[in-house]
Amino acid sequence: MKQMFSALSGKIKENAIDVYMDSIEPAVRDPVFFSVGMPNGGMIPKKELQRIMNEIFEADPARLYEYCSAKGFGPYVDVISKTENIPESYIMATNGNTQGVDLVCRMLLDEGDGFAMEMYTYSIAFSAVHQYRLKAVGIPLEQDGLDVDFLEKTLQTRRLKALYIIPNAQNPTGVTTSLEKRKKLIELAYQYDFIIIEDDPYRDLLFHGRPPSLFELDPLKERTIYLYSFSKVMAPAMRTGFILAHPAFLKKLEQFKQVTDACTSPMNQMLAGKLISSENWTQILAKQKHFYEKRKDWTKRFLQHMHETEQWEGAEPAGGLFYWIDVKKGGVTEWMKKAAQDGAVFVPGDAFTLERGRNTKIRLCFAYCSDEEMKKGFSRLEESFKKWKKTST
Ligand SMILES: Cc1ncc(COP(=O)(O)O)c(C=O)c1O
Repeated sequence: MKQMFSALSGKIKENAIDVYMDSIEPAVRDPVFFSVGMPNGGMIPKKELQRIMNEIFEADPARLYEYCSAKGFGPYVDVISKTENIPESYIMATNGNTQGVDLVCRMLLDEGDGFAMEMYTYSIAFSAVHQYRLKAVGIPLEQDGLDVDFLEKTLQTRRLKALYIIPNAQNPTGVTTSLEKRKKLIELAYQYDFIIIEDDPYRDLLFHGRPPSLFELDPLKERTIYLYSFSKVMAPAMRTGFILAHPAFLKKLEQFKQVTDACTSPMNQMLAGKLISSENWTQILAKQKHFYEKRKDWTKRFLQHMHETEQWEGAEPAGGLFYWIDVKKGGVTEWMKKAAQDGAVFVPGDAFTLERGRNTKIRLCFAYCSDEEMKKGFSRLEESFKKWKKTST
């Protein structure tokens, strides 16, 4: 069959996280999933979604069962325009940020283009790198975001077409980019003429307020494209989000969207639009932030314990779903397989980088499990680590 594949088929690869997860054999009974980057089931606003969905079907508004334009369903675009404080000409609905990144890459990138990303990042960036055979460069991450000096030095010697960045509660490291660095990145984007692809699904899960987006800081909106998704605060199953971009970009993105799937489900856009304009929305987000902050604190206490006994380290995230932990021992992928059999599943740091070398880091998602699972999972991680340490060289 392989001879039937296109050249593009030869370039696309399986998602890096899936490759690692496929390599494990999880415990037969009750595995605890620290690997899953999804919201906690109890935090999904199920009642509100159900109530609004019922209201929508009962009201049976015109065009509920029809396609809408590639740009998006009118009332949804209208709500986003108000909540994001931006004219409608800058907005397009998407099926979430996975689609957003794909459409933006299709619009911007040609084979062999220079492309920068955080040294550890969400594996969607690698898909772009493989498909377009990009000349990729991983920029080291500091506590307050990208090492902008490193980026600047890189820009002095090579041309970059785009920078992919997750500025808030970054996946996988939990790092949030400081305001100062955001401003510097905009400055660099204009000076060296590259586009910032801002992937921002965690902004509403920052525990204590959020800095302005790079898109907001971009004075002409000519060097930043902003992607938001409701996956983490409503439900991944909504498959609904939006792109904010200069109208010149947006027109082109609409053409790509049109040939991809005609439009994002108008029913889901209607549902998301009504939920964010409901009076409960602020309270729903506040409840989620409070819950995830408590989970972060719990993980921090576990980490402190593991620091005392095993020297584990990790920087406290200011929001989001992930804790990035350095277990100070190489061969983590081997441990991952054993830990999965011991009933604790996590993703090793290698899944988030194209750099190859000694990896000592792991990503723990503290959001998805139940309280009972978290407790069980932490003691399994500890026991499994100690066991592995004794047997490995
Ligand atoms: C940075 C980042 N971008 C995109 C996604 C996927 O989002 P969506 O469900 O909106 O496609 C994720 C999910 O883990 C993510 O962490």
